[in-house]
Amino acid sequence: MIKVDISNVWGQLSLPDLLATEKEVAAAHAALTDHTGAGSDFHGWLDLPTTQETPEMHRIQEAADRIRANSDVFIVIGIGGSYLGPRAAIELLQGCNHNLGKGKGNPQVFFAGNGLSTRYWNELCRLLEGKDFSIAIISKSGTTTEPAIATRALRWMLERKYGTDGAKKRIYAITDPCKGALRQMAEEEGWETFVIPPDVGGRFSVLSPVGLLPMAVAGIDIRQVMAGAAEAKETYNLRSFENPVWLYAATRNLLYRNGKVMEIFESYEPSFKMFGGWWQQLFGESEGKDGKGIFPVTAEFTADLHSLGQMIQQGERTLFETIVDIEKPDRDIPIESDPQNLDGMNFLAGKNMSEVNHTAFTATALAHNDGGVPNLIVSVPSRSAESFGALVYFFEFACGISAYLLGVNPFNQPGVEAYKTNMYALLGKPGYEALRAELESRLGK
Ligand code: PA5
Repeated sequence: MIKVDISNVWGQLSLPDLLATEKEVAAAHAALTDHTGAGSDFHGWLDLPTTQETPEMHRIQEAADRIRANSDVFIVIGIGGSYLGPRAAIELLQGCNHNLGKGKGNPQVFFAGNGLSTRYWNELCRLLEGKDFSIAIISKSGTTTEPAIATRALRWMLERKYGTDGAKKRIYAITDPCKGALRQMAEEEGWETFVIPPDVGGRFSVLSPVGLLPMAVAGIDIRQVMAGAAEAKETYNLRSFENPVWLYAATRNLLYRNGKVMEIFESYEPSFKMFGGWWQQLFGESEGKDGKGIFPVTAEFTADLHSLGQMIQQGERTLFETIVDIEKPDRDIPIESDPQNLDGMNFLAGKNMSEVNHTAFTATALAHNDGGVPNLIVSVPSRSAESFGALVYFFEFACGISAYLLGVNPFNQPGVEAYKTNMYALLGKPGYEALRAELESRLGK
């Protein structure tokens, strides 16, 4: 289903270079599938895809049907791996403006707890005025600051509106099966819960209830998403360079070894932007450690050709690009003729918009390659729930192989703690007094 074209890297790499990595790639693949690689206690995502509807999926669909019937708005609380996947799915499959024209029966879906902006919060409160709403709190640990703050506020808003018992029926918790503050809170309060398996890390959790409940509430067929992922799981277990996962993982590592330290992940489809955000976290948190890692950046073309295009064409030569091409366009739009032709664009009249978009893609890939920026093209036949599932599994599997090729544990994120520790100390969390004194003295307080 997914194809990888590396013809635009041959100026920088040779076929023998690529083939020489075969043993290494096979070993990285086996380290994942035999569960012998670093962090193997977090390999549970490998087995999430399924062709059968599980009892958990059935319960997710039932909860989603209830939320769709009784809510104008559904708020998904979470950050990082507990947020980016569901948002990527909904925007890719239903467009960036997916909330337009929605309401009870097909609720609007908004996200909260992914930042600390008061402006964002005030806007969210305004849009909830007079609306029926439900919330899902997604946090594996249950102690992440941003979603914890959003949970407090939204929970009280629900209780004020519907009373304690009424609110209970509108709060869903997606968390660890046994431990953590959110698990404890949900059990004490009697909220319905769904499980993030203990062996599935946040950024690999989109095919668990983390992604599936929000998708189902948005009206996406979660069985199709899982079927696409299950097919990908089967297909990408191939141990050769005919496997597009191998091509992607090995090529990006070879480019990195040749000094290409930054990967720009691009699409010519604005609704793909959040998928880029999900990809950025997946690769950034998985690979960026031990002083190593390709810096992941996302861009939306053609818009960003008018901002980043100059830099890519002629700036620092340490970049490569990965372009995701969705081959079949949505309903096409013909370009009109203009009798005056003052803009000189009548040469486009009669062509379809998608043809111009695709030509921009081909022309740009060639120009950037000529400028010393190699690119890989990852193509999917169309935008569909199955393609979304397949793309998720493709990039997750590629990320696992790629990180093992790099020699890092893809499944931890020790560096994320540094900001949290400083923030807790400065905000006066008990137990952080010594660090607080040190930081305050550095800040001249
Ligand atoms: O990938 C990860 O593990 C992280 O991005 C987490 O998902 C993120 O920090 C949120 O953590 P939690 O789900 O515990 O609130």
